[in-house]
Amino acid sequence: MPQNNQFFVFEGIDGSGKTTVSRLVSEVLLTKSIPNLWHREPTDSVHGKKIREFVQGKLKLSKEEQIETFIADRECSVNDVILPTLKSGKSVIQDRYYFSTAAYQGRDEEHAADILYRNEDKGFPEPNRVYFLDLSPEEAQERRTSRGGAEEVFDEDSEQARIYQNYLAILPESTIFVDATAELDEVVAFCVEDILKSLEG
Ligand code: TMP
Repeated sequence: MPQNNQFFVFEGIDGSGKTTVSRLVSEVLLTKSIPNLWHREPTDSVHGKKIREFVQGKLKLSKEEQIETFIADRECSVNDVILPTLKSGKSVIQDRYYFSTAAYQGRDEEHAADILYRNEDKGFPEPNRVYFLDLSPEEAQERRTSRGGAEEVFDEDSEQARIYQNYLAILPESTIFVDATAELDEVVAFCVEDILKSLEG
């Protein structure tokens, strides 16, 4: 039986384009009369605000404090937005989810897997599909440099390489790897088509 509203997650390292792509995917789906909400983590909750200060380097947090804060923010995200939206019959197009916590906060692949289990144990809903916008850490770095903006805590090349490796270790087997070097409209069209297929069941 087709499930006509589903939960879609976009993941990728910084500079992979996942915010732009996921927003456009949401807009295109609306033009095709597919009800959906675009949503992102970290959110605007008190925890999300703390996270943004941390990301901008204005607040120091240990790895464990980071994990706890991202999970607290996710609890708000799931209870206040994701579950109510799905219940209302709309799909959720989401920019980052618990795979980000595993990849970013994981010291190495083993630690990343532990963080993933910790999130799953919380009973957070499992996405129907995960799209990984695949771009090498070097290319993502070039994009971030050319778009400018303030420095962030994960900007170092070695950090982005660690995060990329963690993603490859923890993403579910069913993850759809999207070539993020392709033209933006092609990337968006590919994801939209796949989402439509998923909704048809
Ligand atoms: P954004 O750039 O997608 O808005 O995310 C803000 C930063 O937070 C980005 O560098 C990725 C990082 N992040 C984590 O470290 N762990 C997480 O669980 C999430 C959702 C984001």
